[in-house]
Amino acid sequence: MDNSLAIHPDQYTKGIAAEGFTDIGSVKAFARLAGGEFRFTCTGGVVSVLFYGNRVVRVAMGVGGGAPELSRDKHVLVGKPEAVAVEVAERDDAVELTTAALRVVVRKAPLRVSYYDAVTGEWLAGEGERGMMFGSKGEVAAYRTMLPEDRFYGFGEKAGFLDKRGEKLSMWNTDVYAPHNPETSELYVSIPFFLTLRGGRAFGTFLFNTFKTSFDLSGDSEYRMHADGGQLDTFVFAGPSAKDVVSQYTALTGRAPIPPKWALGYHQSRYSYETDGEVRELVRAFKEKGIPLDAVYLDIHYMNGYRVFTFDKSRFPDPAGLIKELRESGIRIIPIVDPGVKADPEYPVFREGAAGSRFCGFADGSLFYGQVWPEKSAFPDFTDGPVREWWGDLHAFYADKGIEGIWNDMNEPSVFNDSKTMDLDVLHKNDSQPATHRELHNQYGFFMSKATYEGMARQMAGRRPFVLTRAGFSGIQRYAAVWTGDNRSFWEHLEMSVPMCLNLGLSGVPLCGADVGGFAHDSNGELLARWTQVGALMPYFRNHSEMKAIRQEPWVFGSEVEDVARKYIQLRYRWLLYLYTLFAEASRTGVPVMRPLFMEFPEDASCYGVSDQYMLGSQVLVAPVVRPNVLKRLVYLPAGDWVNYWTDEKVAGGAHVIVDAPLDTLPIFVRAGTVLPLATARMNTEQPVEALELHVYLSADGSAEGTVYEDDGVTFAHGEGAWYEEKLTATRLGSGEVEVRSNVVHGGYEPGWGERRVVVHG
Ligand code: GLC
Repeated sequence: MDNSLAIHPDQYTKGIAAEGFTDIGSVKAFARLAGGEFRFTCTGGVVSVLFYGNRVVRVAMGVGGGAPELSRDKHVLVGKPEAVAVEVAERDDAVELTTAALRVVVRKAPLRVSYYDAVTGEWLAGEGERGMMFGSKGEVAAYRTMLPEDRFYGFGEKAGFLDKRGEKLSMWNTDVYAPHNPETSELYVSIPFFLTLRGGRAFGTFLFNTFKTSFDLSGDSEYRMHADGGQLDTFVFAGPSAKDVVSQYTALTGRAPIPPKWALGYHQSRYSYETDGEVRELVRAFKEKGIPLDAVYLDIHYMNGYRVFTFDKSRFPDPAGLIKELRESGIRIIPIVDPGVKADPEYPVFREGAAGSRFCGFADGSLFYGQVWPEKSAFPDFTDGPVREWWGDLHAFYADKGIEGIWNDMNEPSVFNDSKTMDLDVLHKNDSQPATHRELHNQYGFFMSKATYEGMARQMAGRRPFVLTRAGFSGIQRYAAVWTGDNRSFWEHLEMSVPMCLNLGLSGVPLCGADVGGFAHDSNGELLARWTQVGALMPYFRNHSEMKAIRQEPWVFGSEVEDVARKYIQLRYRWLLYLYTLFAEASRTGVPVMRPLFMEFPEDASCYGVSDQYMLGSQVLVAPVVRPNVLKRLVYLPAGDWVNYWTDEKVAGGAHVIVDAPLDTLPIFVRAGTVLPLATARMNTEQPVEALELHVYLSADGSAEGTVYEDDGVTFAHGEGAWYEEKLTATRLGSGEVEVRSNVVHGGYEPGWGERRVVVHG
């Protein structure tokens, strides 16, 4: 509905309705089972409590009156329950389950669950008047009390600003070409995880449910989690810090591997570079103009009639030759691979898929066909292990030609029909546990990227694959980078890309980014300059635009914009060691590369709502310009001393400052007390680092610290110890000289950096 009928009086309901829902009721029996499960049998159903650690607990309500299913991981859960000591205290009115850090109080009549910090006694979260419920059509819901100061972050890929309090959010992977606006809540990726911040204290909640889920944060004193089906299955992560919460969530759902270094370089894309000549010409222009480049994308035109695992012979007569030639100059090709397989019986992929029952179909055995680029298409059933293996093996087609990165698109899955996707009654094989598309829709893209990543890894003899995906679910970080889909060349979309990526990072996905310059709509020089600046210091950095839009390669808008783009793409390469070190940290701890200010300054309430600034790691603050004709901007600097990266000017924090930001300036501030490992710029990540530059920004007491991580950047050898990490400390001596010390904490790899330079700032 896109006219006023949408606001007909009959459409209106007030508040968070719970009509038709039945409360779980009161506890009739309580038992401690072997394996650590605590089971509460209630008048309306069964609730189980299971600890995954001292600070992580799972609370699940079964469906249809039975006990919840706790054994299936759906390929999402990689963390397992831990045998923790739980003290059990049963009273007439409640049962208290206490670990060294967390106390879960289950009130009996009716059942209401609350969570407390076992050490401080602080209340973290809990149900109030309403608690867990189930609907008549298989829906489940849970209500929790909300305090006035509570703020909400995460929720995966969501439009709008950083803090989601007041919003209604829905999770249903959707291809949205229409302009994303603050209430476009269903986008390509669904991650039903969020973090609540109260004062400096954080705790997290994961609604482990693959059906359509929703979160209503629009009330005053309670919020609601809802799922269209399945069991109500929640994990609570007790923090106490935001970093702890994300670490706990990613211990459960997995962490992103360290990406191949080239995936962190500058990437150029277009829908489409249509011929090998066009690709060569593009690469030549980058070289000629001295603009670094690591990868070029091939969008759908490279294929023969949009058949995946083919090249169009007239446009790309010798793909292996082209790829080899580009690799010699340090550049990689990343082809797009969509799930839709053209329904053409003379096309081997379709034939094999059909003959081997590998496509999605209905209970009666017929296949689901949908229209996508290749017109009538069948869709592999990635929910099934053997199908994933088949699909993964098909990637030998690319890997044999020297390709190391794959771009998964349209994997919501998107279908050109009214529902925009596959029929909900499609029955997926799901590793011999058949389930409907209604249940597994949100996981389709996740499974496709899992198949792709694992298949590529099998083909690549120990080298790290790179997969970029549009769709995903919790855990997608283990397999792919996420880009935020079809944005537009709007300033508003540049602005929105910052909180979107911050919330993705908080949701476990450190490697994410938006199409730099904007995908749809015509970009312009000023916008491209500003977008390239911020893209340079975002985790994933790709310029991409659509067929109908004017071109937006870095040089299209004249020399002033080209110079700005070159400067920031070079800056990306200068900063790559710092970024890479942060990715190594993310792979170990789950803490994102790009962080909201509150993650580093949890006590500072001025940080809680900041959507237009972020921290890159813990030592660098970035404050991009996201509006046209803006040459100065207001920057909030949390308490402490800061140094303007461009001018070396010292600025006292705990204040808002006005900073000059002419078109060639992205405001960047380094925290005093930092040793920042930078490097000389280079044309791509294959070129050696000529010099490691240690930039020293001393604190008031004359000290500074930093870390630098390195490995070979392309293989999995770091998993066997072939990595290098150095802690750097700098101290101002009595003589006024600055001493820089390096302490190699792990020397399993010999970094190929050339000379070392120390630059003392201020
Ligand atoms: C989708 C993708 C876009 C791609 C296009 C053609 O719209 O989101 O990035 O260029 O399809 O493949």
